[in-house]
Amino acid sequence: MLVLGIETSCDETAAAVVEVPDGASAPIGLRIRSSVVSSQVDLHARYGGVVPEVASRAHVEWIVPVVADALAEAGVGLDRIDAVAATSGPGLAGALLVGVSAAKALALVAGVPYVGVNHLEAHCNAGWLEQPELGLPLAVLLVSGGHTLLVAVDAPGTHRVLGGTVDDAAGEAFDKVARFLGLGYPGGPVIDRLARTGDPGAVAFPRAMPGTLDCSFSGLKTAVVQHVRAHPAVAVADVAASFQEAVVDQLVSKLALAADATGAATLVLGGGVAANSRLRERTAALAAATGRAVFLPPPALCTDNAAMIAATGALRLVEDGPTPLDAGVDPALGLGPG
Ligand code: KG4
Ligand code: ZN
Repeated sequence: MLVLGIETSCDETAAAVVEVPDGASAPIGLRIRSSVVSSQVDLHARYGGVVPEVASRAHVEWIVPVVADALAEAGVGLDRIDAVAATSGPGLAGALLVGVSAAKALALVAGVPYVGVNHLEAHCNAGWLEQPELGLPLAVLLVSGGHTLLVAVDAPGTHRVLGGTVDDAAGEAFDKVARFLGLGYPGGPVIDRLARTGDPGAVAFPRAMPGTLDCSFSGLKTAVVQHVRAHPAVAVADVAASFQEAVVDQLVSKLALAADATGAATLVLGGGVAANSRLRERTAALAAATGRAVFLPPPALCTDNAAMIAATGALRLVEDGPTPLDAGVDPALGLGPG
């Protein structure tokens, strides 16, 4: 079976073709035949963040060539596709509508099922595309520009949300602090780089909500602003390193609590912030210290991509059947049980 996946929930226009080999049970052990991502980062950089209307228009412009590229790279025509999956939530309403409308049209033309996919579930499933042998249960830390979630995965497709952020997402905190420090957008990669030359112990920034499975980053952001205003001569690299350490400390301590609460066999990272070198280092150290396995997916599977959407579409098609063509998008979709 070949599934075409489409992702347009935020600022990446992506399409992928994923193959479910005979005997494989999605999302485990699938083969990525192609995965094309057209990022709009440069378009939004001058605004310091994603502008929804700009994102929707760019998706409209790019969706057809990106899908065509994904099919060409996979070496197949639309006539070989057995199902079309698209992210139907959560995300920006106008952006989601572009991918979902394209997917429904392609499914109609090809005479195959359409499957609406939960973007958060897809992030949780991404690891299986690279590593089919993840020991269950998983404790997944999903950290991106839009989300911060701790999820227990007891079996493929079965999720329990254990905690999340009460204010900003982790990536949003990186982006806002980088913007305040004049470092540009997106902020995560630049803070990650700069932090390597700074002292993570230079400033004792707060670690919010200790002992709980929830996170908070807005107080930390305010603490950075107040510190820099009070100490204008402070080295930016020290602020970046100390801020990053405070974020990573908070995330890793929550992941440790989640792992204990679920008896997790494997720790998994997902989302754009999972590319953070310090977070990867500290997560690996936590796994080693607690005798757990760890899986740190390559950045291309952590950030938004359509291979994870196609893989989750394959799973949902088997478990729930096709999604009706009159189903809409849900910008505020959560990750419920089941
Ligand atoms: O998953 P993603 O590509 O897009 C969504 O938000 O859905 O995540 C983007 C976020 C941005 O906030 C970016 O600053 C952050 O991931 N990010 C990082 C790093 N690379 C990307 N944050 C910290 N360290 C990084 N190396
Ligand atoms: Zn995402």
